[in-house]
Amino acid sequence: MEKHWKLLFLSNDDVISLGSQNMQEALEDIEETFSLLDKGEAFSPAKAAMGFGKTLQDEATMGRINALPGYVGGRFQMAGLKWMGSNPGNLEQGLPVACALTVLNDPVSKFPIAAMDGSTISATRTGAVSGVAAKYLAKKNCKTLLLIGAGYQNTTQLEAIYLSCPTLEHIYIVDLIEERAQSFAATMGEKLQISLTPLTDVRKCDRVPDITVTATNSNSPVIPCDMVQPGCLHISVGGCDHPDLYQKADKIVVDNWQHVYHRGLGSLVEAVNAGKLDPETIYCQEFGKIVNGKLPGRETDQEIIYFDPVGMGCEDVAVASRVYRRALEAQKGQWFQLF
Ligand SMILES: NC(=O)c1ccc[n+]([C@@H]2O[C@H](COP(=O)([O-])OP(=O)(O)OC[C@H]3O[C@@H](n4cnc5c(N)ncnc54)[C@H](O)[C@@H]3O)[C@@H](O)[C@H]2O)c1
Repeated sequence: MEKHWKLLFLSNDDVISLGSQNMQEALEDIEETFSLLDKGEAFSPAKAAMGFGKTLQDEATMGRINALPGYVGGRFQMAGLKWMGSNPGNLEQGLPVACALTVLNDPVSKFPIAAMDGSTISATRTGAVSGVAAKYLAKKNCKTLLLIGAGYQNTTQLEAIYLSCPTLEHIYIVDLIEERAQSFAATMGEKLQISLTPLTDVRKCDRVPDITVTATNSNSPVIPCDMVQPGCLHISVGGCDHPDLYQKADKIVVDNWQHVYHRGLGSLVEAVNAGKLDPETIYCQEFGKIVNGKLPGRETDQEIIYFDPVGMGCEDVAVASRVYRRALEAQKGQWFQLF
């Protein structure tokens, strides 16, 4: 008997209409993925990062293409890969900074079953990781959020953190480029029906933030250490942190230390390589332990917690598997016969 194998292709419009940007669902997907990681029912090999330029830091200006594989069991039962290219210079050409293709593989045959635009999935899952982190690591009743970098990533950071911390009242968005800060404040303010204060100088933030998020493409520190005060959750999504900021933290939490170290970027890795930080003193090396209650998250309103999520392929696979199953139900997308 002759056997055939088909692959489903989903465009950016398809994945959006199928819920790739549904943050509430993504928060549930990501929380469960961390739980499964801790139970050994999900895994991700470290990402292969193909940076352009001569040093790791050159990527911030010259771009990169990264491969992030992963498998998630539980209700997801899916394997796959995010293959993501990003280049800051794209903005000048009227293109987004980053674009991803997510490929899903059947965990039984291991064959590819779908290829889809992965850009919205990637940004949504990155926001959701911080949203889940805020649930376990932010102060209860937190009021002030300071976001630095008015790019795409901080839109989903805001959405996810706001869902996890609905008591937030004061939200600041800082960008070196005034129009970006203003446009972010206007667009996200309308989307979430909240008021945001746009700033070009982080020092102009006139409240003590309960949560700070850095998501920039900067090679130099974007937040002064003294702005992170007792009680703060600092989330280091991308860009550069002050090299001493982590030292203020009562607890350092990472999504997965092996992945963070393998990636080779960020102040924690630099401190370990310089012999200033013993990795054994990192309070939580696998965030799933906090999600599963094996380690306490925040214990007092005074703790400073430094959270560094490097991102893992299984997070993309979890969200993409939901989109794929909905596509089958809704009969969306285009089929291609592989053989
Ligand atoms: N951890 C993860 O899982 C993960 C996933 C995706 C992206 N990222 C990282 O998130 C970061 C942001 O991505 P993006 O797509 O939003 O980038 P982007 O280029 O769209 O936006 C970055 C913004 O930061 C601003 N900026 C640069 N230096 C600044 C400074 N000193 N102060 C204030 N603003 C400054 C820029 O003007 C720009 O508007 C990148 O570093 C990316 O690698 C992390």
